[in-house]
Amino acid sequence: MLDIPLMSNNIIKDDVQCLINFLSESDRFTNGPKVREFERAWSEWLGVKHSLFVNSGSSANFMTMAGIAELYGKGEIIVPAITWSSDIASVITAGHVPVFVDVNLHNFAMAEEELLSKITLQTKAIFLSHILGLNALTDKIIDTCKERNIILVEDVCESHGVTFKNRKAGTIGQVSNFSFYYAHHMSTIEGGMICTDDEDFYQQMRMYRSHGMLRESSDEEYKRNITAEYPDLNPEFIFMVPGFNMRSTELNAVLGLNQIKRLDENIRKRRENFALFCSLLDSGKYVTEFDLAGQSNYAFIVLLRENNPRMFEQITRLLATEHVEFRRGTAGGGNQLRQPYVRKRFPKETPQNYVNAEKIHFFGLYTGNYPDLEKEKIEKLCKLLNAV
Ligand SMILES: Cc1ncc(COP(=O)(O)O)c(C=O)c1O
Repeated sequence: MLDIPLMSNNIIKDDVQCLINFLSESDRFTNGPKVREFERAWSEWLGVKHSLFVNSGSSANFMTMAGIAELYGKGEIIVPAITWSSDIASVITAGHVPVFVDVNLHNFAMAEEELLSKITLQTKAIFLSHILGLNALTDKIIDTCKERNIILVEDVCESHGVTFKNRKAGTIGQVSNFSFYYAHHMSTIEGGMICTDDEDFYQQMRMYRSHGMLRESSDEEYKRNITAEYPDLNPEFIFMVPGFNMRSTELNAVLGLNQIKRLDENIRKRRENFALFCSLLDSGKYVTEFDLAGQSNYAFIVLLRENNPRMFEQITRLLATEHVEFRRGTAGGGNQLRQPYVRKRFPKETPQNYVNAEKIHFFGLYTGNYPDLEKEKIEKLCKLLNAV
């Protein structure tokens, strides 16, 4: 039996020891100095001015879309058919209108031509997702956003370290979101980060994270002006925006600070694993021509060349027998247009029109790619898949 879980050893003994040490030495456990230290470390690792630690990648998405509505107004947000549910749910709940785009098979990201054709005067933002460590950016998308004054948001939740032309994803859009959920490149158990160089957006996000409170802003002049403008309000309790409580804790930040030390080395190992996996897989049976430039994969992609339900069924049975954990449909379970929360709200949309998302939905899955996954297991997995 192959025995490959989706994730292994993501929280190691050393992380646990750090937590124990912290607990025995500290008396402040919610959002405090460790959170700020982790935010600074993350900004440095990524190469951005500001990072804001929140309690999940989805929280980062919800806050970002709410912040765009507050600062720039509601509008159309272009989203991919293959992404996580909160990338679309956040658009809907902030009062924007999601505009769906099918994806490429070489990077599972929005198809450039279709994306460009869906831009209208109402387009507020393009919310792209780097899926399974594959870069989603193109020069044309970046240039179009600049020329047409469209906000570019990058979801890097499952692709920490992926690069586009040697620049880290998450440094190119106006805002970028990361997840540190247990199964991702590094983990704070639950957690997320909002990153930006934009001072105004950062200040908004600080307030959104903590109930919308003015005192969370670090812009002293702004706070003085607002306080003077509302003399009837207690300065400690001025709520500027309809915010959330999406703070994380010092404990999660302690984990993040310890995990970030291993991040680059783990990315290197996972990159190697994925390149090996793609090179060994039979390209007659499986799609293997992924755009590997700058990839930072954390899960092996199995996508049938031909849409063959029987073969897919055989593969899922084989993986189950071999105790190889897998997820059908890749990130978010496949074509989001098939999901009840989308169907209910957009009954005129036809999921079948998103042909590549449909293929990924019905004939795609992923298995785990963790740093200490043995080479022999990767070879054996490919051998078994090639024999189907
Ligand atoms: C692309 C993408 N965006 C957002 C999220 C949400 O992150 P979280 O699980 O931390 O809420 C995920 C899921 O894990 C994801 O894969």
